[in-house]
Amino acid sequence: MLSFTRSFSTSRRALVKVAVLGASGGIGQPLSMLLKLNPLVTELSLYDINHTPGVAADLSHIDRNSFTKSAKGPDQLKAALTGMEVVVIPAGVPRKPGMTRDDLFSSNASIVRDLVDAVGNYCPKAIIAIVTNPVNSCVPVAAEMLKKRGVYDPKKLFGITTLDLIRASTFVGELKGIDPMLIQVPVICGHSGETIVPVMSQCKPKIKLTDSEICDLTKRIQNAGTEVVKLKAGAGSATLAMAFAGSRMVDAIMRGIKGQSNVIECSFVEYNYEEAQYFSTPILLGPNGIEKNLGLPKLSKLERELLKIAIPILKKNIKKGEDFVLT
Ligand code: NAD
Ligand code: LMR
Repeated sequence: MLSFTRSFSTSRRALVKVAVLGASGGIGQPLSMLLKLNPLVTELSLYDINHTPGVAADLSHIDRNSFTKSAKGPDQLKAALTGMEVVVIPAGVPRKPGMTRDDLFSSNASIVRDLVDAVGNYCPKAIIAIVTNPVNSCVPVAAEMLKKRGVYDPKKLFGITTLDLIRASTFVGELKGIDPMLIQVPVICGHSGETIVPVMSQCKPKIKLTDSEICDLTKRIQNAGTEVVKLKAGAGSATLAMAFAGSRMVDAIMRGIKGQSNVIECSFVEYNYEEAQYFSTPILLGPNGIEKNLGLPKLSKLERELLKIAIPILKKNIKKGEDFVLT
């Protein structure tokens, strides 16, 4: 376990301690850098089975008033996790061309299970944000593990779907020649193919889109991950946009912890919709994670049709995750 401390004359404010599990990976490294740059982070704990001492040493040279520490391998999980308030998990295998996210289950479910078990053991009150795919199944895996330990708090478990939101803003912005940072489109349901349901009818600001534009945008958002996987041609999936998206979600979680009002992000959490036990909806964040689930936005006829296709797939994904731990 290595730690790098900077000693400044200014007293360190009581801010947030964040751990990244899978910190040496394609997402883990840029995500850790963005968190290092976030003034709300007081301590950044980098954990991976490879390379973390070097990654942490590198990041520790950035002139920000925070600790950076590293831990490598399961023997150091206790040191990595003790005292952490937010734990982000991008550990796991990414897709190669031709694979679905569900194909990653056999490699990644056990990684998530074991890491979340350690979180439940060493920092049971931490808010957990899961990046690892398949998110639709890995969140239920995590919930069941935490239940086994008797420490599950549904307000504190999130699957990160923020990449779908930034993609929706970007693609609508490109189409209409508007700065994407000014556009917000809720994306609900899940994070894989047809379970990604953009709610174009609730786009803010209100933008006039034809039915065919909505269909094309919906398909593009649903397939955007696959588009990147194909173009990376075997070298993995989205990492940089994902790191940005993950950092936005963790920033929102931290602002919630700090009591900032009106912090809202869509995320995949426990929420019963049409018997799917987990569902991505807009969430109001607060000091304990979910302050209030804002539920589904108003949907158009097309969006209701998209959900009809998505729900059976999502339910299957959820059951797969639950069964993995329970049977
Ligand atoms: P990567 O292979 O570049 O990095 C994964 C890292 O996880 C590696 O450093 C590896 O050593 C580490 N790791 C593996 N097993 C571990 C364990 N047991 N404990 C700790 N660390 C472990 O992959 P990546 O591109 O960073 O993608 C990571 C995951 O994120 C993949 O499952 C990918 O599908 C997923 N992903 C999700 C989204 C999303 O929107 N939620 C977006 C992109 C990628
Ligand atoms: C994405 O949406 O880019 C991620 O889920 C990674 C993938 O496999 O597509």
